[in-house]
Amino acid sequence: MKNKKITHKITQGMYVLTTKDGGCMVDAVSQISAGDHPLISVAVRKDNYTNELLKRNDTFALSVLQKEIDPKIIEVFGMHSMRDYDKFAQVNTIEIEHLRIIEQALGYMICKIEDRIENDTHTLFIGRLLEADVLHEGEAMSYEYYQNNKDELLKVTTETGKTAWVCTICGYVYYGEELPENFKCPVCGVEASLFEKRKGE
Ligand SMILES: Cc1cc2nc3c(=O)[nH]c(=O)nc-3n(C[C@H](O)[C@H](O)[C@H](O)COP(=O)(O)O)c2cc1C
Repeated sequence: MKNKKITHKITQGMYVLTTKDGGCMVDAVSQISAGDHPLISVAVRKDNYTNELLKRNDTFALSVLQKEIDPKIIEVFGMHSMRDYDKFAQVNTIEIEHLRIIEQALGYMICKIEDRIENDTHTLFIGRLLEADVLHEGEAMSYEYYQNNKDELLKVTTETGKTAWVCTICGYVYYGEELPENFKCPVCGVEASLFEKRKGE
């Protein structure tokens, strides 16, 4: 593939998906039908704990993040697993329809799961929008904005004089000339093709 980075130009937003007992950061969200109660799809990696939870639960919420969001929220929900870390203890939430919503977010959408489609890496959960509201005014953060400002948002730094591989999803840094075979990000689980090589000058 010549340059997969062009996929970052697919316009996606930044959301915290929550369901009973957990949740994670997602950008792979689309509205896929119209009307008062449209269908919303969200793609969740099969190895995320949230995927297991969504197969047990029948509703989820999406909290819409803005450019000024505290980056800690992205770190808490996108770089830890609820398997061994209580994300809800780290972030202020409000409860709506028995689901946790990020208090600082621009607003939320609550969906009831109607269908799901499995692919090689993700499950596409399709939910019917039941409830939604705007909580604050502001400009939504796009995934492209996150990608362009990730180092600053997540305070990613690499040591001078060392070759570093930086995870383009979560900012995890691996030092070494090459990534080991079958390497996966130990923080967010993505494959080696999503790492960017940086020469530490
Ligand atoms: C900016 C960003 C966007 C992400 N987008 C998605 C996504 O669309 N789908 C997904 O399954 N994981 C996505 N992730 C990764 C999960 O949020 C991450 O693996 C999380 O730690 C899973 O937590 P869990 O095991 O508690 O479910 C994203 C992470 C970040 C930082």
